[in-house]
Amino acid sequence: MNDSAQPPKNIVLIGFMGSGKSTVGRELHQMLGYPLVDMDHWIEQRAGKPVAAIFADQGEDAFREMETALIDELALPDAPRRIISTGGGVVGRPENREKLRKLGYVVWLKAPVDVLLERTSRNRERPLLHTENPRERIETLLALREPWYHETAHLEVDTHGLDSGEIAAGILESARYFFTGHGS
Ligand code: S3P
Repeated sequence: MNDSAQPPKNIVLIGFMGSGKSTVGRELHQMLGYPLVDMDHWIEQRAGKPVAAIFADQGEDAFREMETALIDELALPDAPRRIISTGGGVVGRPENREKLRKLGYVVWLKAPVDVLLERTSRNRERPLLHTENPRERIETLLALREPWYHETAHLEVDTHGLDSGEIAAGILESARYFFTGHGS
């Protein structure tokens, strides 16, 4: 944890697979210059294999352990301000929800199921969607996770019809307000 009186000024993006976290994260990184951490990518680099292979070889629980360990690392005192793009299932653990909220300004990117389905069907990187009926899986997981995203987020953004630049600009404006002490 960060022990200083001020909470760390990271911007943390949460939301379902395909909601645009990585793209909006890159946009915020360019606008602010803060380093970008894509949690899935960091975990893949350290494990030396893709997320799907981690799930297959070590199981989902092992991947979830890696996520929690990475959150702890990102919260170390004296860490730089960062843009943090999370994996869609990070909110499943109560401890992660609590830790993410302390890590910075948490933004939930929301998108309609059709959009999530279309974006996630472009590749087979996501083991949880390796199923006969990905739409049904998305709907089931979303129903489960929506209360968790809601509980974790300081800001909820309906991304439908907006491009990544517009989304990032809106987030930045709200984050500035939050960080200057007007938010809660
Ligand atoms: C997952 C989302 C993925 C990745 C893993 C599990 C999930 O990240 O962490 O496949 O449980 O929703 P993205 O949200 O970046 O696709």
